[in-house]
Amino acid sequence: RRISKNPNYEEPKWIGVNSQQENLLEISRDSDVYAQLKLIHLTEEDLNLLTCIKPYIEKSIEEIVDTFYDALSSIPQLKSIINQHSTVERLKKTLSVHILEMFSGKINEEFIQKRMRIAQVHLKIGLLPKWYIGAFQNILNSIINIINRSNWSKESIEKATVLSIKLINFETQIVLE
Ligand code: HEM
Repeated sequence: RRISKNPNYEEPKWIGVNSQQENLLEISRDSDVYAQLKLIHLTEEDLNLLTCIKPYIEKSIEEIVDTFYDALSSIPQLKSIINQHSTVERLKKTLSVHILEMFSGKINEEFIQKRMRIAQVHLKIGLLPKWYIGAFQNILNSIINIINRSNWSKESIEKATVLSIKLINFETQIVLE
């Protein structure tokens, strides 16, 4: 007897490799950054995969930043830093841009410099590393949520999850240096 098809069933989707190849990694081979990427095994293939994941992150970017600033705003010390220097509305915009850039797959000198400057901004406002690290985990939680509820194949979900952890770890390395 044939098993009747669930009309809502979708074939798991393979999140493959973007065939549109450009130079995603433009970092001098003798730089620390290059060695840092090598240490966590963040490869050019990974960068290519990031470009495939990006549209899904983009669709849920509001959810990521809303979750982020809800969490920050519930901690009085952090809420006070935010209100002293900026507004949640403004920071939601800058964080959205920042996260989508992470998924652009491009890592070059400009990408690194921008992050170092953002680290300086947070140093100036007196943000302690423990909050910075926690904040990154908050973003990672949201990203993993998005990946897990996708209709991708098991292998794609596993790959994307590990890759997101690497990406957040790399961001943390740059800003806490
Ligand atoms: C500014 C990202 C964590 C408070 C910014 C900017 C970015 C950013 C892109 C704009 C910088 C600029 O171009 O001027 C991030 C990321 C974080 C993080 C990726 C960690 C995952 C935090 C946390 C706080 C915070 C935990 C808690 C208070 C602020 C404030 C500014 C700012 C107040 C504005 C500073 C100013 O304009 O004087 N952040 N942020 N950030 N961030 Fe964060």
